[in-house]
Amino acid sequence: MIRHIPAPDNDKPHVYLEVGPETGVVTDLFIKKLGANDTLHVVEIEENFYNYMKEKFKGDPRVIVHHKDITEWSLQDEAGHDVQFDAIATGIPLNNLPNKSILKSILAAYERLIKPGKEITSVEYVLTGTIGQLFRGKEFQELYKEKCDFYRKYASEPSAIVWSNFPLPARVHRLIFPKNEKEKTA
Ligand SMILES: C[S@@+](CC[C@H](N)C(=O)[O-])C[C@H]1O[C@@H](n2cnc3c(N)ncnc32)[C@H](O)[C@@H]1O
Repeated sequence: MIRHIPAPDNDKPHVYLEVGPETGVVTDLFIKKLGANDTLHVVEIEENFYNYMKEKFKGDPRVIVHHKDITEWSLQDEAGHDVQFDAIATGIPLNNLPNKSILKSILAAYERLIKPGKEITSVEYVLTGTIGQLFRGKEFQELYKEKCDFYRKYASEPSAIVWSNFPLPARVHRLIFPKNEKEKTA
């Protein structure tokens, strides 16, 4: 999930985002890639996980934990401009969302928060899409199609399965966002 995070460059600090860290398994890996001047913002909607993460990373000033819904969150720089991130890692289980409208607000947040030309890694447990298609109704089909269209639009390579992921194997989607308007319409 964090394989593609570039080597640190202390002259050009990076600012990264992790969405939905839960207990910080991915965050633990992420911080190994951080340079001294890099920052990792972590946004978690559930209060218990937020409190846990805040305590867990209180000794590392490079990790900043926010108790927020990603669809309503933004970060401003010193000049008051909205920050876009050098990479985003997210574990939000998109197949388990209650409806398509919530999915669409999450996908819109991803598009708003990633820097042009940079990468989002989205990880979901395997089989959740297949199970949804078999046992959930038309509303799920619509949500699933919306999600797959989003992945197809930005996929940088076919998704890969990480069999060693605990408690279930996970599917990893690497998405690269267009650098400019020309690439967007290509
Ligand atoms: C499956 S867990 C991620 C597990 C974790 N990344 C790992 O690999 O160990 C999904 C997490 O996303 C969080 N989450 C779900 N919707 C969210 C939202 N709209 N904004 C922020 N966090 C959200 C959940 O509270 C949960 O902690």
